[in-house]
Formats: sequence, C-alpha cells, structure tokens
Amino acid sequence: MSTVRLPAAANLYDVIHRRRDTRREFTGVPVAPDVLERVLGAAHAAPSVGMSQPWDFILVGSPDTLTRFRDHVMRERDAFAASLDGERADTFARIKVEGICDSGLGIVVGYDPTRGGPQVLGRHAIDDAGLYSVVCAIQNLWLAATAEGLGVGWVSFYREEFLRDLVGMPSHVRPVAWLCVGHVSELPGTPDLERYGWRDRSPLQTVVHQERYSPR
Ligand SMILES: Cc1cc2nc3c(=O)[nH]c(=O)nc-3n(C[C@H](O)[C@H](O)[C@H](O)COP(=O)(O)O)c2cc1C
Repeated sequence: MSTVRLPAAANLYDVIHRRRDTRREFTGVPVAPDVLERVLGAAHAAPSVGMSQPWDFILVGSPDTLTRFRDHVMRERDAFAASLDGERADTFARIKVEGICDSGLGIVVGYDPTRGGPQVLGRHAIDDAGLYSVVCAIQNLWLAATAEGLGVGWVSFYREEFLRDLVGMPSHVRPVAWLCVGHVSELPGTPDLERYGWRDRSPLQTVVHQERYSPR
C-alpha cells in the first residue's frame, strides 16, 4: 500500500530546514500574546512518555532577570574560552553564544520528573525518557516559532543551580533550556557554527546504518 503524502508536507520540510539557532538577528520587537500562545500550544502538544507531560515553561521578560542571566552566561562563556588553545580559541572568539537581552524574551524549560505520578508508563526501564519528552516539546516550540517567523536560540552556557535559583524553580525540577525567543531581521541560511568555521553539518550517510551498527 502506498503512503499518502499530506499537502502540508512541503511546508513542514521547509520549516524544518529554515529553523535556525538564532543569536545575532533579534530585533527586540515584542512577540504578540496570541502568537506566543500558539507556539507554547505546539510545545504542549508534544509526545511524552506515559503522557506525563513533564515540562514547565517560565516566561522571562524582566530586563533585570535577563541581564543577570546574560552576565552569568558570559562568565561561563569565558570559562569555556579559557579551555581552548590556538585555532579553536581564535575561532570561538568570533562566535556569539546568546541573544538573551536582544531577544527580550527568555523561555526557561523545566523537567519535572514527578509529573505523571509514581508509575510513568514506559519510564520504568529508561528513566531518561522523561527528559527526552521535554526535548520533544522544545523542538515543537522551535519549529512552531520558525513557522511564525520568529527566531529561537538555545542557550546552555549556564549552571543549573544558578538558573533554578534565578527563576525560583523547586529543587526537583531540572532546568533543561533557556530559549531566547523573538522577532528577527532574518533567519540565516547557514548555522553560525558553520559560518564561523567551528563545525560543519555531517552528510546524512555518515549517520545511517543498515541492520546493524557499523563503526566508521
Ligand atoms: C541542547 C542544545 C544546546 C545548545 N546550546 C547553545 C548555546 O549555549 N549557545 C548557542 O549559541 N547555541 C546553542 N545551541 C545551538 C547549536 O549551536 C545549533 O543548533 C547548531 O550549531 C546547529 O545550528 P542550527 O540549529 O542553526 O541548525 C544549542 C543547541 C542544542 C540542541
């Protein structure tokens, strides 16, 4: 039986390939509440192990909180930079790793492992399945934001305890991401890390295996 390709398929692939991690292009124009609602609704429609829906989204727009987080991220950036030598250090020096204040909106995504009760169907053997579910929600958010013409930048240059304290997350909730979300002047066609010579996207064939894992 042949499969039916939905009319929306071309648009979906277009959005997937347009999606970009955004750092430099934020305009600071606020995101309209109805747009934000749709984007968060897409995140909340993600699959989750045992239907646990273990995510939380904390919307941060206070300039003071944005600045405090940005300053923390810059310290972590410096710490990483100090671990590099030679060409890696020179290349990294040109790379921007966040658009926290420029975007004007941070969405902190949390993982609550207690969500879904004590027996989450499907998590008994793989505890990380809860975390995987949160990442599915983030990807939904990212694609929906792209379809809305917004940029998203995932920031991971932070210490979890710092971010937890900054936004008042209880100790059992794990911060998974800070997402800079906002209007952009453009979405670049090429990832920054490729443009600045840090790393390239590998060809598909190098990660697909037939029947059994084949070492490269
Ligand atoms: C888990 C995760 C953490 C990331 N952390 C950062 C980060 O701290 N700073 C940053 O600039 N980009 C970050 N990125 C974005 C990646 O650098 C980016 O996805 C990659 O270079 C490919 O570019 P593209 O997303 O535009 O295709 C992160 C992405 C993921 C999935």
